[in-house]
Amino acid sequence: MSSERLQAPRGTYDVLPEDDEARGVVEAAARSILGGAGYRRIETPVFEHTELFARGVGQSTDIVQKEMYTFDDAGGRSLTLRPEGTAPIMRSYLEHGMHKLAQPVKLWYLGPFFRQEKPQAGRYRQFWQVGAEAIGSDDPAVDAELILLLHALVFELGVREVRLRLGSLGTPATREAYRDKLVAHLRANEDRLSEEVRGRIDLNPMRAFDADHPGTREVMQSAPLLLDELAPEDAEHFAEVRARLDAAGVEYEIDPTLVRGLDYYTRTLFEFTSDALGAQSGVGGGGRYDGLAEQVGGPHVPGCGWAAGIERLLLAADERRAPVEAVDLYVAGTGVEAFALAAEARRAGLAVQLELAGRSRKGMLKQADRIGARYVAILDEEGTQLKDMETGEQERLAPDAVVAHVIRGRHLA
Ligand code: HAM
Repeated sequence: MSSERLQAPRGTYDVLPEDDEARGVVEAAARSILGGAGYRRIETPVFEHTELFARGVGQSTDIVQKEMYTFDDAGGRSLTLRPEGTAPIMRSYLEHGMHKLAQPVKLWYLGPFFRQEKPQAGRYRQFWQVGAEAIGSDDPAVDAELILLLHALVFELGVREVRLRLGSLGTPATREAYRDKLVAHLRANEDRLSEEVRGRIDLNPMRAFDADHPGTREVMQSAPLLLDELAPEDAEHFAEVRARLDAAGVEYEIDPTLVRGLDYYTRTLFEFTSDALGAQSGVGGGGRYDGLAEQVGGPHVPGCGWAAGIERLLLAADERRAPVEAVDLYVAGTGVEAFALAAEARRAGLAVQLELAGRSRKGMLKQADRIGARYVAILDEEGTQLKDMETGEQERLAPDAVVAHVIRGRHLA
């Protein structure tokens, strides 16, 4: 066997203790913003039946075609590490009969997701998302409120240079009719298109909107837009969403060519990007998915939601250090008396750290200073001395008086 030192798999990373604080800030902000709006936390399993994603996310998407971590279990069932959270949450809604609750059912989640993408800055194979889903209502206020909540989260975390793009896809039938129209437009102007776009006319005609090629750009200027083709009720729904965002003072750009890599979207579609990030500028996004429940075997249930990448939120946010945990007492001693004192102080509710490395007295005081301890209990042959690290005062106390003294000092602080 090789004795090479092993490393974490490509595209994964360790959340080190020093990174945990910033992530805690994201979680606390999500809990406060989403919890305050009546969203309740849900966590679904990290793996699901592969079929859930094949049917929910869509066979034609990059995610299902090439990015899923799929394996067979011992019983020969195909399982997949979840690449996203919306299909699992819809499964859970159906499985637990949540249609019997007051609608919409408002849920939020935070956890790891897995996609076998090419790793680069801001793109990982295991990444974390915070997300929100409101299932059971097609009211445009649901869409607008969800956008507002992600907007609040992004601003609470100090994400820099944020832009919000907004679009609407209408129904699958509208989309299909539009697609035919777009393909016809591209075919009619085929000789002016780049070779790449020409080769993908049938596969992915929407890609032509992103092309840099001058001829293609010219052709696309007169291309039909999906937003102009929406059925009246879908156009009305989109106008209602926009009216609410306007009323709330949220700035956005309408992007008629906005596309996202999941097949379940209908109607509203949105994406928050940060210009402070590089190529992977998508901080979070989502939309409405009124057909998803049926795709995974349920009745018609409308839904809307979003997810944001924790890594990208943090990369694009202002550095803000979370407060360091307070240490009330550092017990500078290694014997059983020291151990008993630490246990007693913890039972009394104090934050206590114990000397664990057999340092010299000088070393222990240095360590206490490093961790910002308020008091240090120095145990020696004659008993216990308590040092107040703020005033530098030191007094000898009976062992059973130490905890009361620290508690009193904490109240005075
Ligand atoms: P998504 O756009 O695929 O949507 O992912 C949401 C966010 O997750 C992205 O904006 C990005 O910040 C982050 N993300 C995605 N892939 C990676 C990666 N490989 N590395 C790091 N971050 C990544 C969804 O997943 C939908 N479920 C959102 C949704 C909820 N739509 C409706 N409800």
